[in-house]
Amino acid sequence: MRIGILTSGGDCPGLNAVIRGAVLKGTEINGQEFVGFRDGWRGVVNADIMELTRHNIRGIAKQGGTILGTSRTNPFEGENGGPENIAANMERHGIDAIMAIGGEGTLAAAKRLTDAGLKIVGVPKTVDNDLDATDYTFGFDTAVQIATDAMDRLRTTGESHSRCMVAEVMGRHVGWIALHSGMAAGAHAILIPEQKTSVEQMCEWVQSAYDRGRAPLVVVAEGFMPDSMDDPHSERGLDAFGRPRLGGIGERIAPLIESITGIETRATTLGHIQRGGVPSAYDRVLATRLGMAASDIIGDGAWGQMVALKGTEIVTVGFAEALGKLKTVPQHRYDEAALLFG
Ligand code: F6P
Repeated sequence: MRIGILTSGGDCPGLNAVIRGAVLKGTEINGQEFVGFRDGWRGVVNADIMELTRHNIRGIAKQGGTILGTSRTNPFEGENGGPENIAANMERHGIDAIMAIGGEGTLAAAKRLTDAGLKIVGVPKTVDNDLDATDYTFGFDTAVQIATDAMDRLRTTGESHSRCMVAEVMGRHVGWIALHSGMAAGAHAILIPEQKTSVEQMCEWVQSAYDRGRAPLVVVAEGFMPDSMDDPHSERGLDAFGRPRLGGIGERIAPLIESITGIETRATTLGHIQRGGVPSAYDRVLATRLGMAASDIIGDGAWGQMVALKGTEIVTVGFAEALGKLKTVPQHRYDEAALLFG
């Protein structure tokens, strides 16, 4: 069987380890052959294909990004899009099945195409760790480590100047990166989209840390909004994809903290640094295992299924069951972290 792999949506560390795991298990054990589609669904609809052999995936597990490239192309749009065109492309190039590595949008497109008769399996990917069907997604551990390292640095400069430091991290809908990096760095406040924290509460935590002689560290997820503030993203408009432009909440709350508490405050947005560079060992192992398992379920003909992590085991979950369920930070996890605020 000849399989086409694609990586789609925002990148994250570990994508190359998935590709390597799938190609090694597939070619060496499962008798499969592989090609890669360039730039996600764009390569599928335009039949932009590269060979993937044992030779050209050598050493890529430790590389960040994706050797295949990625995009946010919708496979149903454009004159070459849609299941019939894609099926024709696959037949022309002798490709029997697709392994789609991506997040909610990618997997939703994969489900629609599978419903239309294409043979597709999925590998879940999101640096935000917000897919309910899997306990952890690769890339998350690396992002948390990068954010923690950055906060350790913010703390030393904050302490030198007796300043409050605000660190904005990724997390459009959920606060997993903020929660984990904030706990690891010993933050005095963690602000996440799931919790409607007031400006007053935030300033109380900052003041209490400052009064104990600490340089307060506030970690805020990009999708957070204080309950007493207008939508901080509204004035930023939409990006090229029609999504609300995110980012900037750190810079909005820093002057508020400064004006209310009188403590000099600086904001830093970590942004895409969190998605760059080499994956952690944990992410390499998880991603490799997912890639190997995805090769296996293709061998089983488990179309419309994706591989996922449950506890320490790799399991299979149907697209229909996996989609549309956001994994938010549960209240008890936030309460546990909040015991250490202030
Ligand atoms: O979903 C992952 C994520 O990194 C979000 O945390 C962030 O809001 C978004 O992607 C950024 O997307 P882009 O790379 O398209 O700017």
